[in-house]
This record gives sequence, structure tokens and C-alpha cells, in this order.
Amino acid sequence: MATCVILAAGKGTRMKSPLPKVLHELGGLSLVGHVVQAAASIDRSPILVVGHQAEDVMGNIDDVRFATQSPQLGTGHAVMMAMPQIPNNAEPVLVLFGDTPLITPETLQNLVAQISMAQPLAILAFETGQPGRYGRVVVENGNVQGIVEAKDATEEQLAIRLCNAGVMAGTGEIFHRLLPKLSQQNAAGEYYLTDLVAMVRAEGLQVAYSLAHEEEVAGVNSQHELSLREATFQKRRRGELMDRGVQMPHPETVFLSHDTDLPAGSLVEAHCVFAPGVRAHGAVTIRAFSHLEGAELSEGCVVGPYARLRPGTVLGPKVRIGNFVETKKAVVGQGSKINHLSYVGDASVGQHVNIGAGTITCNYDGYNKHQTIIGDGVFIGSDTLLVAPIHVGQGSYTGSGSVLSDDVPADSLALTRPARQIFEGWADRFRSKQAKE
Ligand code: UD1
Ligand code: MG
Repeated sequence: MATCVILAAGKGTRMKSPLPKVLHELGGLSLVGHVVQAAASIDRSPILVVGHQAEDVMGNIDDVRFATQSPQLGTGHAVMMAMPQIPNNAEPVLVLFGDTPLITPETLQNLVAQISMAQPLAILAFETGQPGRYGRVVVENGNVQGIVEAKDATEEQLAIRLCNAGVMAGTGEIFHRLLPKLSQQNAAGEYYLTDLVAMVRAEGLQVAYSLAHEEEVAGVNSQHELSLREATFQKRRRGELMDRGVQMPHPETVFLSHDTDLPAGSLVEAHCVFAPGVRAHGAVTIRAFSHLEGAELSEGCVVGPYARLRPGTVLGPKVRIGNFVETKKAVVGQGSKINHLSYVGDASVGQHVNIGAGTITCNYDGYNKHQTIIGDGVFIGSDTLLVAPIHVGQGSYTGSGSVLSDDVPADSLALTRPARQIFEGWADRFRSKQAKE
């Protein structure tokens, strides 16, 4: 549909961070990752223009082609660096910024759809009460005449509230022919991409503009702005899940990742955090104060309150994970329960297993991680320590408080419990002795 060029060569000074600006994350996905996703319906392999910390950026983003801009001489110059990879005029070009993560595919598609022979350039604008440093869009009689950067604007132009969002679409022909004619004769001494607007007008052609909501086109320039964009992103994702039929009585306390995938009929109670990689294959219940990451859940699972599912957790249908339970690389079969105060890691748990309170898989010896395998129908007594590697055969029981370091045969009882010792009258004697001293 169009070739996308995403600009990400700038320095991001105001982030005050060693991480390149576009690698900061919203909902567990980098800013530029969001932009690449939004652009995917238009171009599956956009051109990413990198410059500052180029290697860091290049090492952390997939599904793009790269162009390098060094030194960084402005947004127009950045697009010039991508043009050798756009050899002909056949396709339109869509320019986006890598630090504007909330832009939607619909907005981009609509902008590209506006381009025609008579109207070979289209820009995205927004109205704001605080136009600050944004470029001002000058409109006369309904026609866009140009974009004036704040640094170059007159007092009168600074009062304009219609601003340039930074997204621009045009015919390949316009970009190929006009970009080389940009000049650096302006307050910043840069090649402004925005100068294309006046150049197209000077040829007697029209420039289209569409209006976006300020929230959608807001960029990230500081840690504070990053947190504001995160809030908008969360609001949007919660809305999407609720629209799909996920019940969320306290949405403002639930934090989702870009890829959190829960089906209709699921319930998410207050104060839950979904790090990346969580997906449920059927309706599930996540009770309050749970933290999930890289976990796969099946129909009817109930997790929490206060549960922590770590990466590699795979829960079969109707599994229950209760309070203060941590799982990691644990495959748990249908109907099994781990309800209280347990750690189950590097483990395979069969179906209809009951794991008693305070059970720990001792999976780590300081050097290696070892597997715990628990067969179907096993009953693990409370406070059992399973020293891995260990296999607990199907249908067996383990006695409460046992420390087990060898395999347990099927249908047996395994018990390691010191013999009980009773000293009759000992307590009375002890108290009298203490009273005399
Ligand atoms: C730009 C627009 C302004 C618009 C605003 C919206 C120009 C000249 N101005 O201004 O009209 O209102 O965005 O946010 O286009 N970049 C490069 N190489 C460069 C310079 C910038 O790749 O040499 C990249 C940056 O990494 C960033 C994007 O381009 O992703 C925008 O650059 P920035 O410096 O933030 O432009 P603004 O001054 O904000
Ligand atoms: Mg900017």
C-alpha cells in the first residue's frame, strides 16, 4: 500500500537515559515496536532511520530494514537517507516518528488513502491548547499552505492551535523530486521535512490534512511524557479487553501488556499486573494482586489472590493456583491444585494432583536447575520439600513435612519424619527451674 519510513535517529536528550529513546517501553513493547506494529497493515518491512545509538536500536528491533543517518541534519534529511531503498515512484511513502507510539493503523490507512494526483501530499494535524514547540499548520480558506516550525514562527503564527503531528504521506514522485530541494535556511539550520508542504503548494497542488486526537499523536520526549503515554496505552488496552467481554471491575488498577490475550468471560480482579506473554485459551479468573508473565492458561483456571506465575507456566483446564504461590517453568495438568504458599519450578505436575500448603520444589543446587515430575492423582502433603531431580509416581502420597530426595514409586506413601519424642512433665520442671533463678 505504501513504503513506511520511521524516523528514529534523534538523540532523545530529554529522556536523560542511557537507553535509546525509542527502546523505552509501553506495555512491555518498545516505542518503535508500537510504531512498527501500527504500520504493519501498510508495510510489513518498513525502513527505520537510525543514527544516535544506532547499534543498540538495530539489535533490538525486528521486521524492519535500516537506513543510517549520520550526522542528524533534520527530519527531511532523515527521510533522504531512506530514499535509496525506495527505488521508484510507484508506491506512496508514509513517514512516521519512532517516538509516537499510540498512532493507530486506521489513522495511517486513512491518511494514505487521501493521496491523489491533485493532492499528492497529506499531513496529520491535531488541535491543542498547548501548541508549545510543535510545528504550526497554516490553513487559508480551508487549504493547507504550509507548516511553520515554532522556532521560525511569527507571534501571529505561534497563536495557531492546529499543529503538525509529524505523520506525512505523499506520492513517491513528490518525495523523490522535492526532498533534494530542501534547504537548511531556517532557525534550526536543519532540513525540515515540513517544508515539503509549501513546495507542493508552490506547484499549485493541494495538500490534504486530517485531524487526529491529541492523545493519539502525542510523542515521548521525557520520562514524564513516557508515563503519560503509558497511562493512555493502558486505558486503551483495558477498553479493548472489556469490549471483548473480559470483566474488570476496577480497570484503573489492572496493568496489561501489549500482547495480553484473555478471552470473553474472563474476570480480572483489582491490582493485577500482566507482563508480556500471557495468554488464556478459555475464560479464566485472575483474583486480586496477582502478577503473571509468560504464562499460558486454559479454560476454567483460577489464579490468586496474590499469585505469581512466571515464564514457562502452562496450566491445564480448571487448575487452581492460590495465594502466595509462585510457579516457573511448570506444566500443571487438568484439575490440579496448588492453593497455598508454595514454589513449583522446573516441574511437570500431572492431572488432579493436590499440592499441600508450603510445598517447595528444591530445583537449584547452585549450579544447575533440576526437574520435578509428579504423576497424575498424587497427593503432596503440606510442607513437603521435593529435592530435584525427583519423580513422584502416580497415585502416591507424601507425608506432611517430608524432605524427599529420591523417586517415589506409584501408589505408595513416602514419609521422612523424625520419630516423635515425649518427655512427660518436662514443661513443668522447666518453668519451676526458671522461676527459682
Ligand atoms: C517535528 C516536526 C514538527 C512537529 C513535531 C511533532 C519537523 C521539522 N518538525 O518537530 O512540525 O510538530 O515533530 O512531534 O519535522 N529525527 C531523525 N533525524 C533527525 C531529526 C529527527 O531521525 O535529524 C527523528 C527523531 O528521532 C524523531 C523525529 O524525527 O523520532 C522527530 O524529530 P524531533 O527532533 O522530535 O522533531 P520536532 O522538533 O519535535
Ligand atoms: Mg519531537
